[in-house]
Amino acid sequence: MRSLRYRIPAFFLVGVLVAAAITALFAVRLFQDDSRDRTLAELRRQAAGLALLYEEQAIRSVDEARQAPGFAAPLLEEATGSRIYYAGVEIFPGQKSGLRSLDRDVLDWQMLEAGNVETFEFKPPGSDRAFLAAAHPITVGGDTFGALVVAKPRAQLRSGWLPLAGRMGLASLAGLAVAAGLIWYLSRRLTKPVLALSRAADQVAAGNYDAELPQSQFGDEVGQLTDHFREMTQKLNEAQRRERNFLMVVSHELRTPVTAIRGHVEALREGLAEDAEARDASLEVIRAETDRLARLVRDVLDLARMEAHQFTLEEEEVELRRLVEQAYQSFTEEARRRGIDYECSFAADPVISTDGDRVLQVVSNLLDNAFAWTPDGGRVALELAAENGKIAVSVSDSGPGIGPAERERIFRPFWSRAGDGTGLGLPIARELAHALGGELALESEVGKGSRFELRLPAGRR
Ligand SMILES: Nc1ncnc2c1ncn2[C@@H]1O[C@H](COP(=O)(O)OP(=O)(O)OP(=O)(O)O)[C@@H](O)[C@H]1O
Ligand SMILES: [Mg+2]
Repeated sequence: MRSLRYRIPAFFLVGVLVAAAITALFAVRLFQDDSRDRTLAELRRQAAGLALLYEEQAIRSVDEARQAPGFAAPLLEEATGSRIYYAGVEIFPGQKSGLRSLDRDVLDWQMLEAGNVETFEFKPPGSDRAFLAAAHPITVGGDTFGALVVAKPRAQLRSGWLPLAGRMGLASLAGLAVAAGLIWYLSRRLTKPVLALSRAADQVAAGNYDAELPQSQFGDEVGQLTDHFREMTQKLNEAQRRERNFLMVVSHELRTPVTAIRGHVEALREGLAEDAEARDASLEVIRAETDRLARLVRDVLDLARMEAHQFTLEEEEVELRRLVEQAYQSFTEEARRRGIDYECSFAADPVISTDGDRVLQVVSNLLDNAFAWTPDGGRVALELAAENGKIAVSVSDSGPGIGPAERERIFRPFWSRAGDGTGLGLPIARELAHALGGELALESEVGKGSRFELRLPAGRR
C-alpha cells in the first residue's frame, strides 16, 4: 500500500470523487431551483386562469340572477392537480363553491390590490406540509373582493428533479469507472519506469553495475533520472575497471624490482658473485632497485591519496620566482654536462598563497621529463608568467614531441616509454595541479618539442 503504484491512483481517485461530489451538489441545487421556478410559473398560470374563470362566473351569477352555476372547485382541483383556496368576500352566497377558505392575513393585500400575482410558501391550516402557492386577485368592476390561491405541496417538487438526479448519478458512475480505468493505466505507465529504476538501484547497490535500465520514452523527469542513473553506473563501471587495472599494474610494477632484488640477494648469498667487482655490481643493482621500489611506493600512495581526495595541502605565501629559480638550479649541472641550452625567464614576480613544496614537485617533474626526452645539445626553457588572474609556469623542450594519440594517455598511471620510468610522474603532476586549484596543459608538435604549462590561480587568501 505504500507503493506509488497504489498511492497515485488512490490520490487521483479521491480527487475525482471530491470533484464529482461537488458537481453533484451543485447539480442538485440547480435541479431544485429549476423545478421550483417551473412549479411557480405553472401555479401563476393556473391562478390567472382560475381567477379569470371565477370572475366570469361571478359576473354571470349577478347578471343572470344567480341562475348560473357556481364555481365547482373540487372538479377544478382534480383537473389541475393543485389545491384551490379563496380568501376574501364570498361572492356566491348560499351556493357551494367548494372552495377551501384561507385566512386573509396570509396574503399581501397591497400587492394584490395593485393587480399583482403573489407567490409564497405557507402551511395550510390543519396540514403540517409546506405548500408553494400563487395568489391572484379577484377583481370585479374595479373592486378587489378577494384572492384565489392555487397551491401544490412542496414535497412534490422532488418528483421533478429526483429522476434526473438519478440519471445523472448513473452517468457519473460510468464516468468514474472510465476515469478509474484511465488513472490505473496512467499511473502504471508512470510508475513502471520508477519501479524498474528502483530495482536497478538495488542491483547496483549489490555491486552489479551492469543492471538493466528501462529505456526512457517520454524524455520526462523520470527519463532524465534514468539517463543520469545510467551515466552514473557507467562511471562506476569505469571506476571499478580502472581500480582493477591500477591494482594489477601496481602489483606488476612492484614485483619487477622485488624479483631483481631477490635474484641478486640469492646470488650474493650463494656466493655466485665471486669477485669484488661482480659483488659491487649486484649491490648497485639492489640499491637502484630499492630506490625505485621506494619511489614507486611513495608515488602510488600519493596518487591513491589524491584520487581519494585524502590529501592535505599546506597553504602559505609563496614567492614563485624564488621557487622556479630553485627548480631551475637543480638541473643546471645536467644541462652543462649534456650541452643543453637551458634558460629561465620571468615575465612576472607573483606571490600567491599555495603549497610551495607541491608546486616545486610538479615543476621538477616536468623538468625531469624535459631533460629525459631532450637530446644532448637540445634546448629546455623554464618560464614564469602572469596573465588574467592566472600564473603560468611552463617547461618547453626540443624533444621528440608527443603525438595526438599519446596526449591523453601519458597522463594515465603507469604509461611510460622510459625504460626505468614508472609512468606516475605526469598523473601525479596533473592531480596535484587540480588539487592546487589549477590545471596542467600540454602543447606539442611531433619532431619539434613539447611545452607543459602549470596554471595556478593568482592571489592570496
Ligand atoms: N617532455 C616530454 N617529451 C616527450 N615525451 C614525454 C615528455 N614528458 C612525458 N613524456 C611521455 O609521457 C610518458 C609519461 O611520463 P611520466 O612522467 O608520467 O612517466 P615517466 O617519466 O615515464 O616515469 P617517471 O616520471 O615516473 O620517472 C613518458 O614515458 C613519455 O613517453
Ligand atoms: Mg616523468
